[in-house]
Amino acid sequence: MIGTSFERLVPDDRVEEMRANLARISRGEAFTQFRTVRLKRDGSLVEVELTGSPVRNDAGTILGVSAIVRDVTAQKRLAEQVQHAQRLKSIGRLAGGVAHDFNNLLMAISGYAELVMLDLPEDAPGREDLRALLTAADRGARLTRQLLAFGRRQVLHAVPLDLNTVLREMEGVLRPLTAGDVTLQTRLGTEAMMVQADRAQIEQVLVNLVANARDAMPRGGVVSIETDHITIGETTPRPHPSVQQGDYVRLTVRDTGIGMHPEVQARLFEPFFTTKPRGQSTGMGLATVYGIVKQSGGFITVESEWGRGSVFRVLLPVRATALPGAEAQRSDPGARTVLLVEDDEGVRRMAIVMLERLHFTVIEAPAPSDAIRLLRESAHRVDLVLTDISLPEMTGIQLGEIIASQRPGLPIVYMSGFADAVERHQNLEPGVNFLQKPFSIDALAKALRGAPVR
Ligand SMILES: Nc1ncnc2c1ncn2[C@@H]1O[C@H](COP(=O)(O)OP(=O)(O)OP(=O)(O)O)[C@@H](O)[C@H]1O
Ligand SMILES: [Mg+2]
Repeated sequence: MIGTSFERLVPDDRVEEMRANLARISRGEAFTQFRTVRLKRDGSLVEVELTGSPVRNDAGTILGVSAIVRDVTAQKRLAEQVQHAQRLKSIGRLAGGVAHDFNNLLMAISGYAELVMLDLPEDAPGREDLRALLTAADRGARLTRQLLAFGRRQVLHAVPLDLNTVLREMEGVLRPLTAGDVTLQTRLGTEAMMVQADRAQIEQVLVNLVANARDAMPRGGVVSIETDHITIGETTPRPHPSVQQGDYVRLTVRDTGIGMHPEVQARLFEPFFTTKPRGQSTGMGLATVYGIVKQSGGFITVESEWGRGSVFRVLLPVRATALPGAEAQRSDPGARTVLLVEDDEGVRRMAIVMLERLHFTVIEAPAPSDAIRLLRESAHRVDLVLTDISLPEMTGIQLGEIIASQRPGLPIVYMSGFADAVERHQNLEPGVNFLQKPFSIDALAKALRGAPVR
């Protein structure tokens, strides 16, 4: 630089601004944190922050200028990333809050519509209308579930999982997604990739990422899935400022598709953001993925350029080998298995739908004898019994007594549609868990949650 003007570093459109700054210096003023851009050796632009002050001789006459020019690219990127994460979090809070209340309303709508349907004769007018209502409610429920996922408000059934096993077992689902000119490659790390996560949710993440990759390759290409371990230490560059130090399982989904512009990249995790035709896509895919990954304690990053494919990386904390995590899981009300005893097929179906929506695993028994057999066969799996009172073979109360003798302490919740059923069965003591039919999903959740944990 010696012998040349520092104007060499100033892009054409900043010359005016630079002259104005110099004028300030010659008036004896100084300036700090002045944001502008400068030219790099290769001619590209760099964002900088300037600090400038006059240089004087002993007599106080201004002889020149001294300036510090700081490259703020990294700092700016960091601030943007933090802002972006905060924005998604607040949208998530809003979406999750609305979805939660809305979901309860939808459950009541579909639950009661289904009950009305059960009481209607096969040829009753209005059945078709009810069916249409149920279909619409189902679509609404699907959407609210996605919003709940984005808002990190799902009940997660987190268990120890080997990501490699999940991937191997999912090939059958992922392959058909990538039929035609799209090739699916997997390169799985040799060791087990142990994480603590909800299997169904992880599958959801994979399906969404692979479906997006396929959509990005209308003329064919390759989507590859990789797994490996990565340790983020004190000095490791972090993919995102919020990523904490630790050991992670890394899932990489890479495609050779159309890639994306920065504007798309900045918004792709937002709910309802899509560049695809409306009607076909809701734009909830990556929003769901984002929520699931965050709620599982992980991170997701994307790297892409228009025309050059995309890479999505998901980091999930390596599952600690200590057992306390698993212990806490067992008492998690979201991770429980219910033995459902109900002879009416319609009611049983509806109860199963509701229970599964509440993230219970259901074992169903149409009759008391089935229940007793199933309980014996799956001795360690059942956490809770939900039984009807009016049953064939014996009453639900009698069944409850048998269960209590075989599995003392196993919580039992009784349900009945007859208001006086409780009175007629005197041995159903006050304070016992009882659910009045028809019930809303909320009432069901409350009754089951109220049941004591073993
Ligand atoms: N692998 C990818 N390559 C290029 N663009 C992508 C890729 N994945 C996502 N995108 C962009 O991000 C947008 C949002 O993705 P997202 O999965 O959330 O919604 P969608 O795929 O449009 O709709 P939906 O998943 O609900 O069917 C997409 O519309 C697309 O523009
Ligand atoms: Mg998608």
